[in-house]
Amino acid sequence: MTSVQTHSPDPATWTRGPVADIFSSYVAATALSSAQELGLLDRLAETGAAPFGNGGDERLNDEVVQSVYRALHWAEVVEIKDEETVVTGPAFDAAFAARGYFYWLVRGCGEAFSEAPRLALEEVRSGAFYRRDMRAVAIGSRLIGDGEVEALFDEILARTPVRKIADLGCGSGQRLVRVAGRHPEARCVGVDISSASVRLATDAAREAGLGERMTVHQGDVLRLEPRPEFAEVDTVSCVFMGHDFWPYDSCVATLERLRRVFPRAERLVLCDVVRTQEVPRADTPIFQLGFETIHALMGVYLPALEEWHKAFAEAGWRCDAVHSTTTPPNGYLFELSPATRN
Ligand SMILES: C[S@@+](CC[C@H](N)C(=O)[O-])C[C@H]1O[C@@H](n2cnc3c(N)ncnc32)[C@H](O)[C@@H]1O
Repeated sequence: MTSVQTHSPDPATWTRGPVADIFSSYVAATALSSAQELGLLDRLAETGAAPFGNGGDERLNDEVVQSVYRALHWAEVVEIKDEETVVTGPAFDAAFAARGYFYWLVRGCGEAFSEAPRLALEEVRSGAFYRRDMRAVAIGSRLIGDGEVEALFDEILARTPVRKIADLGCGSGQRLVRVAGRHPEARCVGVDISSASVRLATDAAREAGLGERMTVHQGDVLRLEPRPEFAEVDTVSCVFMGHDFWPYDSCVATLERLRRVFPRAERLVLCDVVRTQEVPRADTPIFQLGFETIHALMGVYLPALEEWHKAFAEAGWRCDAVHSTTTPPNGYLFELSPATRN
């Protein structure tokens, strides 16, 4: 038997510095996600200051809220002024802009990340072998798409008026609510496989007072069948779920199916984050490592950009334009139309 020689580095090299920072960063990431859900970030964004603690809100434990602020202070997102007040710190604006990524990562995917050793076992990898909080995934995705992706949508839909839009994997439903607000004649239909997302989107439609103008259906986009409410759809959108169409043959089959299910569709606006080919490095952007790792854990294939183009061509969709996005990094929005009329 050979004995393993271990060399213990001087504790001074890891009790402070980069390795210690990895540890504290994890806690700060969970604090950002918690602060988002508890409304602490919104409050600071509105007023610039908040009480250091629950501020008299007896529903919240004072010490827990303080511990969230302490972790955010470490990350320079807030500054604890004295034992009574918290103000925004130098990293606040950037962290606020990125809050959706943290909420997606921690609240949406945290359980699956912490379960990685189990998910690595081939014998467990079938059926419903992992769990994610799909409500949090949907809310995080909405925040991630707010801004650049939504602005692109507004621009594209403004070019040709939309009469009826179907959003596939509609998540929070906010895109449809937004389209309905900007296009008063438009009708909207959402489809999502998750009951949590369907509830969220249904509530969003009700809160916006959309009545019969917006309906939400629970269904698997990969197995969608024609329905009367799909017959008049002229615009199909699909944001941050296209990778669920894959692997290749399944993607081509789903893209072909969409042409049958939405026979009057004049355009398909598909936006997703693609797989990068490079090894992560110091300048790897936000999201990439989390997005690629979680899909490996879940066993979901992520296509690269050129694979999408091949699938569009084979499935009879013409790619009229491609827009790359900065937020999310490695994101692409494809404007597609049927290559031939149905
Ligand atoms: C990352 S979220 C994106 C949500 C939304 N499109 C957005 O832009 O905010 C992906 C959504 O797709 C849904 N989804 C995943 N696979 C699906 C499938 N096969 N059929 C229908 N919905 C699906 C998930 O439940 C989730 O709500």
